[in-house]
Amino acid sequence: MPVFDVKNIRKDFPILSRRNLNEKPLIYFDNAATTQKPAIVIETIRNYYENINSNVHRGVHFLSEEATTKFEEAREKIRSFINADSVEEIIFVRGTTEAINLVATSFCRGKIKENDEIIISFLEHHSNIVPWQLLCECTGAVLKVIPINSNGDLMFDEFEKLLNERTKFIALNHISNAIGTVNPIEEIIKTAHKRNIPVLIDGAQSIQHKKIDVKKLDCDFFAFSGHKVYGPTGIGILYGKKEILDAMPPYQGGGEMISSVSFEKTDYNVLPYKFEAGTPNIADAIGLASAVEYISKIGMDNIENYEKEIFEYATNKLSGIEGLKIIGTAKQKANIISFLLNDFHPYDVGAILDNEGIAVRTGMHCAEPLIKFFSKIGTVRVSFAFYNMREEVDKLVEAIYKAKKLLG
Ligand code: ALA
Repeated sequence: MPVFDVKNIRKDFPILSRRNLNEKPLIYFDNAATTQKPAIVIETIRNYYENINSNVHRGVHFLSEEATTKFEEAREKIRSFINADSVEEIIFVRGTTEAINLVATSFCRGKIKENDEIIISFLEHHSNIVPWQLLCECTGAVLKVIPINSNGDLMFDEFEKLLNERTKFIALNHISNAIGTVNPIEEIIKTAHKRNIPVLIDGAQSIQHKKIDVKKLDCDFFAFSGHKVYGPTGIGILYGKKEILDAMPPYQGGGEMISSVSFEKTDYNVLPYKFEAGTPNIADAIGLASAVEYISKIGMDNIENYEKEIFEYATNKLSGIEGLKIIGTAKQKANIISFLLNDFHPYDVGAILDNEGIAVRTGMHCAEPLIKFFSKIGTVRVSFAFYNMREEVDKLVEAIYKAKKLLG
C-alpha cells in the first residue's frame, strides 16, 4: 500500500493555499457541499477547450473525432471506477439530482399507478424526496418513509414492515449528507430484491469516500455528482442495469438520442445515448474521468482509511467541548459531523468560523425534514476530505472555543 502523505497530496489542490479576507489560511470543511479540484482536473478541462473543443458523435473532422474519443474514454474510465458491466450502463447527466429525476420520470412513467408505494428514507436530501413527490402527484402513488431512531440510524424493522405488494420502488442515500449516517444499503437491496423491488442508491456522499462496486452491491441504479468526487460541477452519472435501462423510455427528446426521425415516428438511439439528448457536457465528462483517475491512483482504500482517522479524531475532539452537541450519532457514520453549540444560532457560529478561515455549512443542508427532527434552527456541519489534516481539526476546536466566548 503506498504511503498516504497528506502534505504532498495537498500540493495537488491549488485552492488550498488561499487565505480569507483576514489573511487566515483556508481550512475547507465544506466537502459535502462540493470538493476541491486537483490541478490535473483543472488542466484537463483547460486543455480540452484549448486544443480539442468540438462536438461529439457528429463531425467528420479530426477535432470532433478527438473529442468523441476522449468523451467515450471518459465513460469507460467511469465504468471501470464503479465496476459496471458495460459503458451502456453509464449515462452522463448533470448530477445526482438529474439522475434521480431521470429515473422517477422515465423508469416510473407508465409503471407506477394509483395507490402504488414508493419508499424513501427519513435521511434523504431534497433531491431524493421531491422527484418522488412529483411522481406521486401525477400518479396517485403514495410515498412511504423509513423512520430513524433518535441517533439517526434507519430502523430496519420498520423498513421491512413497510414492504408489501404495492411497493414498487425504493430510493435511498448511501450516506446522509446532513448527519453522516451510513445506511445498510446491502441489506436493503437484498431484502428488496427478494420481492423484485428495484432500488436506487443516491451515492452523492459515498462515491468520494468508499470503493463503489455496483455489481457487488447489485443496486439497480446508482447516482452521483462529479463535483462531489473532485471533478467539475454540471456533470454526474446515472448507472443503471442494462436490461432495465433498455426497457425504459427516453427521459428527454432531442438530438443524439434518436436513430431516425420523421414527422410520423422517431426511433430511439441505443444505450447510453438514448438518455443523452442534446450536446453533452463534454469538457466536464472528461474532467470527471480525470478526477476518478486521480483518486484511483491515491487508492480508495487509502482514502477511506485516512478519512476514517480524521473523522474519528474530529468526533473525539468535538465531543470534548462543553455545550457542543453532535447531531446524529448513528452506529455507522462517516465524514460528516453536524453539531449545535449551546443555544447559539448555527449561522452565527458559522460566521465566526468563517472569520477564522474555516469553511463550514450551516442550516438545513437541503434535508429539512431530517434536520427539523433534531433542531428547528438547523445545524453547523463540518465535512471532511482526504486533504484535511488533524492540525485543521485542532484549529476548528480553537475557533469553536472562540465562538463560545464571543456569542456567550
Ligand atoms: N448536497 C450538498 C450539501 O449537502 C449541496 O451541501
